[in-house]
Amino acid sequence: MAHHHGKADWTDDERVQRMAKSYNVRYDDAFWDTFDTLTSGESRSVVADFGCGPGLLLADVANRFNAHSAIALDESEQMLALAKTSLEERTNLQSIDIQHVNFDAETIRVDPDSIDFAFSGFMLHEVASPSDFVSQVYKHVKSNGIYVVYDFVSGNEEMFVKTMSEQGMSEEQARKRYPHMCKHSADDIVAILETSGFSNCRAQTIGEIRAVVVGLKR
Ligand SMILES: C[S@@+](CC[C@H](N)C(=O)[O-])C[C@H]1O[C@@H](n2cnc3c(N)ncnc32)[C@H](O)[C@@H]1O
Repeated sequence: MAHHHGKADWTDDERVQRMAKSYNVRYDDAFWDTFDTLTSGESRSVVADFGCGPGLLLADVANRFNAHSAIALDESEQMLALAKTSLEERTNLQSIDIQHVNFDAETIRVDPDSIDFAFSGFMLHEVASPSDFVSQVYKHVKSNGIYVVYDFVSGNEEMFVKTMSEQGMSEEQARKRYPHMCKHSADDIVAILETSGFSNCRAQTIGEIRAVVVGLKR
């Protein structure tokens, strides 16, 4: 944490477990409705999650899109171990590629123009330079492939504090975390995707504190 203000430690066992346990709350019906509105249901062979955490979203997405390959990328070995198990237990994928990478310091070892569906959930606010990071993602997405970003957004601190309190965070902690966790507005995320090369970028907010943003690589 010394190098990046506010950044969380994703190697702590309890945190890793909490991330997995809260999956259904974070990826709730409102998320999936929005996801379905912004993405088409057609099949997508190669799916990748940048900052995959426990890999539960990647497993669900792989099944939804009838994927044959999934690429799970994260800087936390603990998260990647869980992601490997999630993908093995929950999918029938032909290929599972687990990659340990710190997006702030290393380049991504994935073939250029190879990903049909790329995703990042609750992590864009964590990277040091979102536009450098998204530009890297862009390189690896195929033509006609899409990138979906899901994150907390700025604009309604009170709603954020209320929602986090309901989910067990203290009000004080929620207020302290707000500037970091809600770093971007939905419009900011659209602008980051556009700057990085994506077209047809669209955002939909959920309850004023979350947004799903999608961009297309032409
Ligand atoms: C809040 S968790 C979300 C995990 C998962 N996307 C989910 O929603 O369940 C953020 C994840 O991003 C990863 N992460 C954050 N910054 C990163 C970086 N610079 N490089 C690689 N992974 C990073 C963390 O290790 C962690 O697993």
